[in-house]
Amino acid sequence: MNAENNFMGWENPGSALITGSSSGIGAEFARQLAQQGFNLILVARRKEKLDALSKTLQEKYSNDVEVLVADLSNISDNKQVISRINEIENLDILINNAGFGILDNFLQIERMKHVEMINVHFTSPVMLCHATIPGMVRRKRGVIINTSSIFAINKDSSLIMYTTTKSAVAIFSELLKVKVKGTGIFVQALCPGFTYTEFHDTDAMSGFQRSLYKAEQWMKAEEVVSLSLDAVKSKSVIFIPGEINLVEGKNLRKKKLKKYLNCEWL
Ligand SMILES: NC(=O)c1ccc[n+]([C@@H]2O[C@H](COP(=O)([O-])OP(=O)(O)OC[C@H]3O[C@@H](n4cnc5c(N)ncnc54)[C@H](OP(=O)(O)O)[C@@H]3O)[C@@H](O)[C@H]2O)c1
Repeated sequence: MNAENNFMGWENPGSALITGSSSGIGAEFARQLAQQGFNLILVARRKEKLDALSKTLQEKYSNDVEVLVADLSNISDNKQVISRINEIENLDILINNAGFGILDNFLQIERMKHVEMINVHFTSPVMLCHATIPGMVRRKRGVIINTSSIFAINKDSSLIMYTTTKSAVAIFSELLKVKVKGTGIFVQALCPGFTYTEFHDTDAMSGFQRSLYKAEQWMKAEEVVSLSLDAVKSKSVIFIPGEINLVEGKNLRKKKLKKYLNCEWL
């Protein structure tokens, strides 16, 4: 695979570790990065889904595609992922993408579910970034994409913990970029709006109706991922895919969005 075939223009693309790659946006990152010649480490809980994706991608592209079953709400499972990270010679890309929503009021949600969300959306990305960055600094190249959400921009109080954790990972990404300046590492906080995935089909999201939102508000995972990869080298850490999300965001929080988009203070 030659350099112009991958989004970074790298000779010899190395490995990419993608959390939440058993479905949706994470699985699509896996497909697009496999096509670009990266070897993959797929992380999520549903082994059968990861195995099926791994088999398809290995057959199609002849890359190494490894499966790592982990529940990232558990610290011990994050430590196991880190043990594997420590063994990988050429981890070029880390995509912290695992996530879930809960459609209920703060007090109605079981207390430990809030802790699980904090761990999956924030603790895990922090732990995995901490483990991955030293190798990237040594090799003078790397890409970190942390999947946040448009909720981090619009600050929707109806989903307090989702908004808070996604905001935390966005701020963490912005400050991380300052810390890794000059090391060859690129950082992005991907902030998608409504995307067709399994996200809204879980038990915890039952009651959510896609049809209540305009069709043009929805994006396909393929589009979100290819726009995200294209934007990795841009100045702004916060990346909002899709014109519709920029417009919606502008209408809701014109001032704040402008501040984020310009990111002059980074
Ligand atoms: N879809 C949207 O409209 C939307 C909008 C903004 C942001 N996002 C964000 O995009 C990311 C990807 O979500 P998606 O839309 O692609 O939804 P999805 O299809 O439901 O994918 C979510 C992924 O996260 C994994 N995951 C969830 N909990 C986990 C845990 N405890 N441990 C390990 N993996 C876990 C799931 O795998 P297993 O179930 O196999 O563990 C799955 O692979 C999430 O962070 C989400 O918050 C989505």
